[in-house]
This record gives sequence, C-alpha cells and structure tokens, in this order.
Amino acid sequence: MRPAVAAVSSGRLSALGARVLCSGPVGVRCRSSSASSSTDLHVDTATSETEKLKTIDDLPGPSMSKTLYWILCKGYADKAHLMQDLQKNLYGPIWRSRFGHYNLVNVASAELISQVIRQEGRYPVRALLPHWKEYKDLRGQAYGLHVDTGPNWYRIRSALNPKMLKLQEVRPYVSVILQVVDDLLRRIELLREKSPDKTTVPDIASEFYKFGFEGISAILFETRLGCLEEEVPKDTQRFIKGLNDMMYLSGLVPLFPKWTRSFLPFWKGFVQAWDDLSDVSRKLVERRMRELEQNSEAQKEGLYLTYLLSNDKLSLAEVYTSIMELMLGGVDTTSNTLSWPYDLSQMPYLKAVIKEVLRLYPVVPGNARFVAENDLIVGGYWFPKETQFHLCHYSVCHSAEEFPEPENFIPERWLRPGESAGGAYSRALPTVNKHHPYSYIPFGVGVRACVGKRVAELEMYLALSKLMQRYQVCPEDDAPVIEPKTRTLMIPGSPVNLRFLHRA
Ligand code: HEM
Repeated sequence: MRPAVAAVSSGRLSALGARVLCSGPVGVRCRSSSASSSTDLHVDTATSETEKLKTIDDLPGPSMSKTLYWILCKGYADKAHLMQDLQKNLYGPIWRSRFGHYNLVNVASAELISQVIRQEGRYPVRALLPHWKEYKDLRGQAYGLHVDTGPNWYRIRSALNPKMLKLQEVRPYVSVILQVVDDLLRRIELLREKSPDKTTVPDIASEFYKFGFEGISAILFETRLGCLEEEVPKDTQRFIKGLNDMMYLSGLVPLFPKWTRSFLPFWKGFVQAWDDLSDVSRKLVERRMRELEQNSEAQKEGLYLTYLLSNDKLSLAEVYTSIMELMLGGVDTTSNTLSWPYDLSQMPYLKAVIKEVLRLYPVVPGNARFVAENDLIVGGYWFPKETQFHLCHYSVCHSAEEFPEPENFIPERWLRPGESAGGAYSRALPTVNKHHPYSYIPFGVGVRACVGKRVAELEMYLALSKLMQRYQVCPEDDAPVIEPKTRTLMIPGSPVNLRFLHRA
C-alpha cells in the first residue's frame, strides 16, 4: 500500500505544480525510541534529553484497516481534505498513519508545521518518487527538480528560480498572458453564443484548464499551443493527454508490485504518457533552438526557454526535463483556483479574493516533507531522519483559531488597515491578518516552495480582471452548491456552469 500523504488522505498529494508533491511509496524508516546521534538537528538531540522525548510509537493514530474503512466505506475516497479534519478531531494536531511497514506523521497546526519546516534542512524533499526515477533511468533522461535531491536538486532549482520568483522578473510575461486572456475571452464569447440562453458557459473549469495550459506554455516554451482554438492541434492534444495520464497513473503505479506490470496496464500507460510528454516537449525545445540559431535577434524577445538555453547553468538534458516539469506544475493548479470565485462581480479586491479562494479551496490541500538530512523534534516527539511528514494545510487554514468564520468566504479578512472593500462589503474584522504565518501556505514555504507562484498570480489577476471588466458573472439559475473534491489536487466536485452577462 502506498503510504504517501495522498494515500492517507486517499487522494494523491502529488505535486508539482505541486501535483506531484508527494506520491508513490516513500521509503519511510520510522525507528522507535533509540537515541539519535545527529548533530544537524536545530535542537539538541544527541543527549539524554532525547531519551525523555516521546517517539512515533507514542503517537495516536488510525490503523491501516481503519484508514481503508474511511476511504472505501465512509466516502472519503475523494475527500482527502476532510479526512485531515476528521483525524485532527480524533487524535489532536499530530498523529501517525500506518500503511504496512510505512508510517506517515501528520501535523495539523500552524505551530507544528513551522517546527517541521524549520528543521527541513538545506535540501528539503517532499517525498521520494521512485517510479518517476525509474522512468527517467529507463529512458536515460536527466532527473530534474522532482527526482533529484541534495546539492544537485539545489543546483537545478537555483537555475530555474531567476525569471520566476520575483514580481519584476515576471512582468515581461504580461503581454503574452494578455494575448492568451484575449483568446479565453473570445472562447467564452463563442460558448455563450452557442448556449441555449446565450449567456451560460458550461463547465468553466475545463475552459480555465485550457487557459492554464496555453498560458504557461506560452511563457515556458515561448510558443502558442492552440489549446483555446476550436480545432486543437494533434501534438497539443497528445501533450494534454500525456500530462493527464501521467498524473493519474503516477498515483496508481506505486500501488501494484512490479511483477504485475506484465499484465496490468498501469506501468505501460505511465511510460507511454511520459514518452508522449517528453516527445512533444523535446520538439518544442528543439524548434526554439533552431529559431535562436537562425535569428540572432530572437534571443532579445525570448522569455523563459530562451533564458534556460542561453546560459550554461543546466545541461540540455536538464533543460528538457525541467521545462516539462514546470509545465506539470503550472497547468491545473492555476486553472482550478480560477474555477471558484464565480461571484466576483461583487468583489472589488481581486488579490484579497484570490487569497481567500486559496484559503477556502487550497488547490494543494496538503504538502509534505521527507526530512532526509537530520532528526527532528516536533510537538515534543523525536523523529529520526527519513521520516515522512504530511503538512495538513487544508485543516489549518480552515481552523477557527486562525481564521474567524473559517467556512465563510470573506475576502475582507485579507485587506490591510485603511483598505476597504467598499459598499455593502465593508466589514470590520477584528482579527484581520492576525493569523499565524504558517496557517496559510498555499504555495508552500521555504527554498522548496512553488517556483511558479508569481506566474500563477499574474495569470489569475489578469484573467479575472479582464473577465470582470467585460462580464458580470453569476451561477446559473438553481445552481447546486458545489463541494470540492480531492483528486490529486482540490478541484470542484461537479461542473461549474456560469452565466456571463455583458456589462452595460
Ligand atoms: C494557484 C497556482 C499554484 C499553486 C497553489 C501551487 C502550489 C504549489 C505548492 C504547494 C508546491 C509545493 C511547495 C513546497 O513543497 O513547499 C508547489 C511546487 C511547485 N510548483 Fe506550484 N503552484 C501553483 C502554480 C504553479 C505554476 C504556474 C508553476 C509553473 C510555472 C508551478 C510550478 C511548481 C514547481 C516546479 C514546484 C516544485 C518546486 C520544487 O520542488 O523545487 N506551480 N506548487
């Protein structure tokens, strides 16, 4: 049984784009009580002090059969986020989940999350991804951001950070994102016209998905893939399918032993999906390389790929892998976040709205850390290195202690003193911005935090502001309440059908 966070929560906490944040067996070795000799720990563990500390064996938590019962019989299969709350209520803010030989330590308070992060070491790992590594070895590909660890991960990450992490670095992407936003608006107009009432766009999440795909590929590959066209090009279809299949199968492959691969379809499908992704991605990179060779001026207009190709920080093999992995992170994280704020017509403060959406519906509901470098002390318990932690972000940002009226959508809570939402939406909230900093970490935290945060924000601000300028957006009549579900990421549980009414 796969012990990853996802399994606990029954969904994959895969990340990247943080979809493959944590999936696949994580070789967790949770020793019991013997004292550690680690000197890396930020707290003194190599003394008799550690012997006084409790260990993983003292932690409360469900047996594997109980977890399976919740998942299979109590309807938590696609409600991983709610399982965080269920277990926190039963066991308190720190508990252990068992999956055969594997253990997972869940932490569900801002203070405990901060303790894990403070001890995550110089080269934090979310979770090991042995099946990704196996594919890369099979095809002789470079490991990249997700499979590499230690100083090599750091070297790759340092090469990818520029032109991504700072606001001024992502500004040059505005014009290309605006072109993609224009295509989105054209497509919405087309779909409205096709609808019986001439206003409703069904399943807006799938349109935002195409927008997310197009937007991020326009920046990364510096080319338009045509996702928002009526006729989507063949290679683009292959790319989209490859990405979906890979993410889906990435959660299934580790569940089955290798000897089943000759008759079960999962591993073959996983390899095929990666092959398709790699093939299309390689073609796009090679096209840009040819352009750069043929036209020396092209470099000046270059965005992200040109930057990667124009310096020698990464080998060509690492550029192929990295650009593809950035794509994996950037597609449906942004688009699923865009799917929620459908009452924006009444929300003047866009940034506050996006923040509140990411609090109520964090697209990555749980994060993870596999602390490889040192032992840790968390919540008064001692853990040896190579313990897998699940950081229950959903549960923490829905906690009433951190956010008053946690289940209500209140963007005003993010406004600074002096800022006002205006009109009927002004509400004085005494606890504005009073939450613990680790109670709201939708993009993760530390050196391993989301590399695409700034690009994601830019895409969301530009898309939503343009949409709101043109339309008043509201749910269709008699629309049901849409509950989130966790399927790797947190997504709307049923199609979101929206009415787009032209503003006068
Ligand atoms: C609403 C949009 C997004 C959200 C909420 C989000 C969230 C996250 C989270 C929680 C992580 C894990 C961070 C950690 O372990 O502390 C992550 C990692 C990552 N994200 Fe995003 N992400 C978003 C958009 C994007 C975009 C647009 C890109 C691509 C440009 C991207 C690329 C990545 C990559 C490559 C990683 C792995 C970083 C590493 O392991 O060093 N993400 N993201």
